[in-house]
Amino acid sequence: MADLHAQRRQDADRVMADVDHCMVRCLAAVYDAENRWGRDDDFFLTAVDQTPAARVLDLGCGTGRLALALAAAGHTVTGVDPHRASLDAARAKPGADRITWIEGTAEVLPDAAYDVAVLTSHVAQEIRAEDDWRRTLAHLRRALVPGGRLVFDSRDPAARRWERWNPRDSRRRLTLPNGTVVDAWTELTEVRAGLVSFVHHYLLPDGDELRSPGTLRFRTEAELRTALAAAGFAVERIHGGWGREPVGANDDGELIVMARAAD
Ligand SMILES: C[S@@+](CC[C@H](N)C(=O)[O-])C[C@H]1O[C@@H](n2cnc3c(N)ncnc32)[C@H](O)[C@@H]1O
Repeated sequence: MADLHAQRRQDADRVMADVDHCMVRCLAAVYDAENRWGRDDDFFLTAVDQTPAARVLDLGCGTGRLALALAAAGHTVTGVDPHRASLDAARAKPGADRITWIEGTAEVLPDAAYDVAVLTSHVAQEIRAEDDWRRTLAHLRRALVPGGRLVFDSRDPAARRWERWNPRDSRRRLTLPNGTVVDAWTELTEVRAGLVSFVHHYLLPDGDELRSPGTLRFRTEAELRTALAAAGFAVERIHGGWGREPVGANDDGELIVMARAAD
């Protein structure tokens, strides 16, 4: 009897593992459908291109959209991300063999190995705890050569972008590579002490719904500048939009940081 229970539990675990695997694969496909090449990618590619044939770190590379383009542009690219399923999706893409993929966070980085480091699509905001953020910046400083460049985006809290994260304003329709059409919307769940929580909903044609919850830290320009200086970075510019507008000047609502590792 005990054996039968153990067997049933193993079968159930295996089914759940398969379901999890499908969910994760489906979410990676949904992520790519949501996050196609955009003005932000153009910005980061141009910024990296200022250093020809750079050794580039893409920290929080996700499913590899920008890392792959950087490698195709002739840079030597390392993509680092703690989320194994995203890295698996990245590794399966054409051209992925040109890139060094590492599962982990900034702690795994070698010393003085990169000319440029990028964190794109608001990776910086996923590093929510202030201690983690300070440590990440210190590791980035250590991993960059003296004078190396750090470029990342963070949404400007002054733009209050989360006010648009409601089912009405955020409704969108995505088409997956296999033709499946997914109805998506975002629901704000909490705004508290600089942290904004939300759930992305993805409704599949068969009625199944995937939910992808998240929490982002919104840091002010002053907070970013203070943390960067403490980690040994000199801020060269902070843009407010992908056309290099001043902070607050347009609807992009970004803080796009261009900094240099102090010599
Ligand atoms: C919104 S995705 C952006 C992915 C990719 N940069 C892009 O442009 O599509 C945020 C990524 O940050 C990663 N991430 C979360 N915490 C991290 C950390 N502490 N260090 C590095 N990456 C992290 C997540 O796993 C996720 O892949």
